[in-house]
Amino acid sequence: MKVVAINGSARKNGNTDILIKAVFEELNREDIETELIELAGQIIEPCKACFACGGKENCVHKTDVFSEIFEKIKSADGVILGSPVYSANISSNMQALLERAAVVCDMNTGLMQHKVGVSVASVRRAGALQAVDTMNHFFLNHEMFVVGSTYWNMGYGQMPGDVEKDEEGINNMHNLGSNMAFLLKAVEREGK
Ligand SMILES: Cc1cc2nc3c(=O)[nH]c(=O)nc-3n(C[C@H](O)[C@H](O)[C@H](O)COP(=O)(O)O)c2cc1C
Repeated sequence: MKVVAINGSARKNGNTDILIKAVFEELNREDIETELIELAGQIIEPCKACFACGGKENCVHKTDVFSEIFEKIKSADGVILGSPVYSANISSNMQALLERAAVVCDMNTGLMQHKVGVSVASVRRAGALQAVDTMNHFFLNHEMFVVGSTYWNMGYGQMPGDVEKDEEGINNMHNLGSNMAFLLKAVEREGK
């Protein structure tokens, strides 16, 4: 089983990275393979609304890394979307990725069916709930199962590493990871 995580931050090794890796720790403990994809240094172009993706199962525009990332998402059993809060919501790269992924999924139904989804957001102070909700909307609109924890999936911090000091946030990520592993295994059992 494999889980692919997309980090929508403009910086590598920051707070979103730390949150995702706390979830990974629990998945790896349960022998679930993980892969981190970072959008830092990339520009994901917005959807061109051409709807040429019908029957193609991917975006037809190959001028950025979107198609490569989308293939990885398609082949994974679980998906983690992680974003820093920018302007009280997700980063523009994550927004562009989700807009394009949503249109490809709408034009090719069933691509995400029964995958397990987790969203996490890092935040200095405000906007994390909107960010988590925005990412969860993608899962909920495409037949995926969304995993919860004991709090909403956010960690507080501004500069890289600050989120480590948010003990409740980090504990929540570990619990989220073990819940994700539980659901992945349950879905796998049911599918056999
Ligand atoms: C462009 C930009 C916009 C931001 N907007 C917000 C915001 O609306 N609310 C907030 O609490 N923090 C905001 N922040 C702070 C980040 O959410 C915070 O530093 C986060 O931990 C960064 O995660 P990263 O280390 O993974 O990049 C913003 C940061 C940047 C660079």
